[in-house]
Amino acid sequence: MPRTTETPWWRDAVIYQVYPRSWADSDGDGVGDLPGITARLPHLAELGVDAVWLSPFYTSPQNDAGYDVADYRDVDPLFGTLDDFDALVAEAHGLGLKVVVDVVPNHSSSEHAWFRAALASPPGSPERARYVFRDGRGEGGDEPPNNWQSTFGGSAWTRVTEPDGTKGQWYLHLFDSTQPDFDWTNPEVREELEDVLRFWLDRGADGFRIDVAHGLVKADGLPDANPDYDLATDPTNSQPMWDQEGVHEIYRSWRRIADSYATPGDPDSERLLCAEAWVVPAENLVKYVRPDELHQSFNFEYLMTPWIAAEQREAVAQALEHAAAVGAPQTWVLSNHDVVRHASRLGYPQTPGARRVPGVGPEHEQPDAELGLRRARAATTLMLSLPGSAYVYQGEELGLPDVTDLPHEHRQDPTWHRSGPADVGRDGCRVPMAWESDAPAYGFNDTGRSWLPQPASYGRLAVDTQRGVEGSTLELYRTLLRLRRERGLGTGELTWLDLGQDVVAFSVTATDGTATTVVANLGRAPVALPDGEVLVTSEPLADGRLGVDTTAWLAG
Ligand code: GLC
Repeated sequence: MPRTTETPWWRDAVIYQVYPRSWADSDGDGVGDLPGITARLPHLAELGVDAVWLSPFYTSPQNDAGYDVADYRDVDPLFGTLDDFDALVAEAHGLGLKVVVDVVPNHSSSEHAWFRAALASPPGSPERARYVFRDGRGEGGDEPPNNWQSTFGGSAWTRVTEPDGTKGQWYLHLFDSTQPDFDWTNPEVREELEDVLRFWLDRGADGFRIDVAHGLVKADGLPDANPDYDLATDPTNSQPMWDQEGVHEIYRSWRRIADSYATPGDPDSERLLCAEAWVVPAENLVKYVRPDELHQSFNFEYLMTPWIAAEQREAVAQALEHAAAVGAPQTWVLSNHDVVRHASRLGYPQTPGARRVPGVGPEHEQPDAELGLRRARAATTLMLSLPGSAYVYQGEELGLPDVTDLPHEHRQDPTWHRSGPADVGRDGCRVPMAWESDAPAYGFNDTGRSWLPQPASYGRLAVDTQRGVEGSTLELYRTLLRLRRERGLGTGELTWLDLGQDVVAFSVTATDGTATTVVANLGRAPVALPDGEVLVTSEPLADGRLGVDTTAWLAG
């Protein structure tokens, strides 16, 4: 389908998330790096995605795997150098791939020069005003300034020792104590982060994924949160640290910057801004993608929707309706570096209305791997047919399961250290990629070192065991991505079909009139397919019928 200014690349792009620590390791130290990624980019060109999103590779003490940035304008030596980044961008562009980088504007690392200066400066100083420092409550200021909790567990406040050795102020951190929140009411913070955007755009970045995009602005006066807040019973998400009106002005200004890098009339030159915003209800989330704000926002509601036909239909219909109301494309995602991989998530009984799936550890009931993979393939076949843009997380194209039995001694996620054993954290989805079944570290590097141990199942699913093998998950993804592009699914219009209550069925009509029928069987018995040439199925058909937990695309 030819691109027009109405259909710039990001409206239907399939974007592949690389977690730099875990994709390819060129120097063999057990942690992935930028030269490793560059060398493996042909895998993405062959897969048929449009862009690669890189999780943070900036200078960082790595307390939250790089989401704790100490220098926003440099590459951590662990991952390489700025020259390595330039080489990666050049190679990606040469292969026709866009490069999206991660910007972390809610907080820096406590090792950032600004935070060090804040600690060395007195209360009330301009250095402290870049972060959220407050006096404590109670006698001697011994109590935190309010009752906010860190997302990773424990209080969201840490007390400092003042330069003169006395017990001092407290600073806010919605995540780990080594991730102090910036104060976005301070113009200096705004200018700094805008300058960071320009720095990476000038180096050739095609866009940004914006970390914790809904957290930057806090309610005036930092009022206590409702300690009994329960998302399940109050879906308005009305908490003083999230989704405050003030964030939208920031993104309007960011949009102007992104737009200033595009060549007028060239839809391929547009720069993408995508929000990581865990915001409900959907009416609030779509405010982030109004025409003068961001281009996309992750659709986590879809990611969390159980594999139950009525709930899938509802999630897709609602998402399309809300996005259309503001003229934005919808985005679809099933896995990322923060959630249990969908090949494992779907290997559990599906509970109506259930949402978040907590991390799984060796002490928990383990998922049914075969069922999970089958459903994951069906779910992806459904997802990649949907109009809009889709995100694919590294390794899902191999059907990699989450490492749900990772021994605790290997865990590095601060969630585990702050909340374990209640929450085992996210290491299970971050285990390094498998390229070659018979190589050290399954081809992740050539020394065999790996910052998290890889399970034997990864070897059996390595790229070289699936490439060119009919029916493999890798070949399924390649076929889906090719057909999606050829048939213009990403910019099509969806019309619902009624094929029974356990079936999710619709047709997608591309702008040139090409129609594709999509049928997913989430029931307990095989179903008949409508007429039409079968283009692809997530599992082989049985006697021409669509089996349980199987999705098909048909022409017409
Ligand atoms: C986002 C990231 C997550 C990180 C957190 C704090 O949610 O996706 O990995 O821990 O922000 O930066």
